[in-house]
Amino acid sequence: MPYTVQGVVARGKGEAVSLETVHVPDPGPGEAVVNVQACGVCHTDLHYREGGINDEFPFLLGHEAAGVVEAVGEGVTEVAPGDYVILNWRAVCGQCRACRRGRPWYCFNTHNATQRMTLEDGTPLSPALGIGAFIEKTLVAAGQCTKVDPEAPPTAAGLLGCGVMAGIGAAVNTGGVTRGDSVAVIGCGGVGGAAVHGAWLAGATKVIAVDIDDRKLAWAKEFGATHTVNSSQVDPVEAIRELTGGDGADVVIEAVGRPETYRQAFYARDLAGTVVLVGVPTPEMTIELPLLDVFGRGGALKSSWYGDCLPSRDFPMLIDLYRQGRLNLDGFVSETIGLGDVEEAFAKMHRGEVLRSVVVL
Ligand SMILES: NC(=O)c1ccc[n+]([C@@H]2O[C@H](COP(=O)([O-])OP(=O)(O)OC[C@H]3O[C@@H](n4cnc5c(N)ncnc54)[C@H](O)[C@@H]3O)[C@@H](O)[C@H]2O)c1
Ligand SMILES: [Zn+2]
Ligand SMILES: [Zn+2]
Repeated sequence: MPYTVQGVVARGKGEAVSLETVHVPDPGPGEAVVNVQACGVCHTDLHYREGGINDEFPFLLGHEAAGVVEAVGEGVTEVAPGDYVILNWRAVCGQCRACRRGRPWYCFNTHNATQRMTLEDGTPLSPALGIGAFIEKTLVAAGQCTKVDPEAPPTAAGLLGCGVMAGIGAAVNTGGVTRGDSVAVIGCGGVGGAAVHGAWLAGATKVIAVDIDDRKLAWAKEFGATHTVNSSQVDPVEAIRELTGGDGADVVIEAVGRPETYRQAFYARDLAGTVVLVGVPTPEMTIELPLLDVFGRGGALKSSWYGDCLPSRDFPMLIDLYRQGRLNLDGFVSETIGLGDVEEAFAKMHRGEVLRSVVVL
């Protein structure tokens, strides 16, 4: 029996989101229907509704979620009804050129459900990042469900489904932060805060949090920042250099997604250092840099999709660290809200009042 449920839909560019009736088909071969229990509000949801990702409206928003598998389609063996899962947007294919070379975190052919969820009039919905989880039940590819320990509450576990994983992974996987490193993180929202926490977890001895909002800097300290810089008051490049003996940081993580903050990251790193871009720019943004500086400063300029994570490897490991009290996922949950409150949550995100508003169903 297909399901008729309520979901949060962005109908057009810049339009306020609305709660709509959505038809969710029974899972077909390789698919699963999941009862969503919690889903965080990520800045990428706002990018979708602003038309910053693509024009495939209407979008079913939400993509940072945990829940319980309700039903699976033919041939699904990796999960079964009743399993507690985090939804991921990297269901690796195992066959593309990245997977075949043993680098599945770069998989170029990740799986999503093949059937579409629709509005009541039959209009197909584009689920955000192939998930769409501001909804009571969602249809995904079975590989998008990663089983984890049910003792971790869904409000915390769901955050690993996007922003917190992206931030931790930007530091640990993409940036390769290790013991004794100096790290600066520019933009300390949900993603940047998690990058701070990831750098701390990996043993960085200097973790410099940069933001234009003192509230974010106070939270960053709770996640392990050793120093904070309010870049609306001082030049962050100079400040980071000063805090690192004049050299710049080994790894600088940009978690805003803007040309000016990327430029800061570029000049705030040490010679042969690494810049990691985890913030998502919009299509019109460009940057100009002296090619001689790109060459002369050496090192690596990387970008980080989903923290270069492998969900099957990283989610259960991070849930273990959470259960041992070594990973502070609860610290990212600023408030829990209902399905009808997503528009207000965007406004709070915009005003900088929250790290994560988490929809609880
Ligand atoms: N690469 C990925 O896989 C991935 C995954 C999730 C989110 N993202 C992206 O990461 C970015 C951050 O997402 P979020 O959910 O943490 O958003 P957020 O709104 O919670 O955080 C953004 C932070 O940047 C700060 N900021 C804004 N302008 C700044 C400036 N000029 N200098 C310094 N700080 C500034 C804000 O005060 C805020 O704290 C977004 O672009 C989002 O789309 C990327
Ligand atoms: Zn692949
Ligand atoms: Zn996200």
